[in-house]
Amino acid sequence: MSNTVTWFGHATLGLETAETHLLIDPFFNGNPAATVNPEQVAADYILVTHGHGDHVGDSVSIAKRTGAMVIANAEISSWMGRQGIENTHAQHIGGGYHYPFGYLKLTLALHGSALPDGSNGGNPVGFLLTTTDDKKIYIAGDTGLFGDMKLIGDEGLDVAIIPIGDNYTMGPDDALRAVKMLMPKHVIPIHYSTWDVIKQNPDDWAARVTAETGAQVHVLKPGERFSF
Ligand code: NI
Ligand code: MN
Repeated sequence: MSNTVTWFGHATLGLETAETHLLIDPFFNGNPAATVNPEQVAADYILVTHGHGDHVGDSVSIAKRTGAMVIANAEISSWMGRQGIENTHAQHIGGGYHYPFGYLKLTLALHGSALPDGSNGGNPVGFLLTTTDDKKIYIAGDTGLFGDMKLIGDEGLDVAIIPIGDNYTMGPDDALRAVKMLMPKHVIPIHYSTWDVIKQNPDDWAARVTAETGAQVHVLKPGERFSF
């Protein structure tokens, strides 16, 4: 069995694992980097890291079309309920749950989480997934650098997916420090160059990570996949 990550641009990810389609932060409409539209993507589960529009994105319409379960913190889960999404599962930071596709734990993220209509979106999160074939993948969500990334790294990460765009999240320097704490086998940079304010050169960053850490960097183009 293998696991495949697809980067759809910005922070939008697909993860195929255990014959299940997970969509993370599905932002297609209004995403200048997206190469597909929200009607084209498959989803059994939709995972939302926080309430901002570039992460909640098209969750509601995709959940309605596919019947996918939305997994998020309790505040965002209840908001989804108010948008007519009945199939939700609420978790909170530090808590894990066994789904058919693996064990999913919510992790700390340093950011905001207000929802597009101004509702309280609780605290932002990241995701740590242990797949059914025992691979560990960490999706940091929007976050600044924090020292407890060391604790997440202690779990032994196969893949880390982290923001490098700066301005709203970690920039390249802090993202490099994050890799040193996370010590993943593979790292994929996201949340950059969607707009000018977060423009970065991922190849320059990759060269620094390669020089200073043991992690293998995979710079994807929107629509590209990485299997592990
Ligand atoms: Ni955000
Ligand atoms: Mn964002």
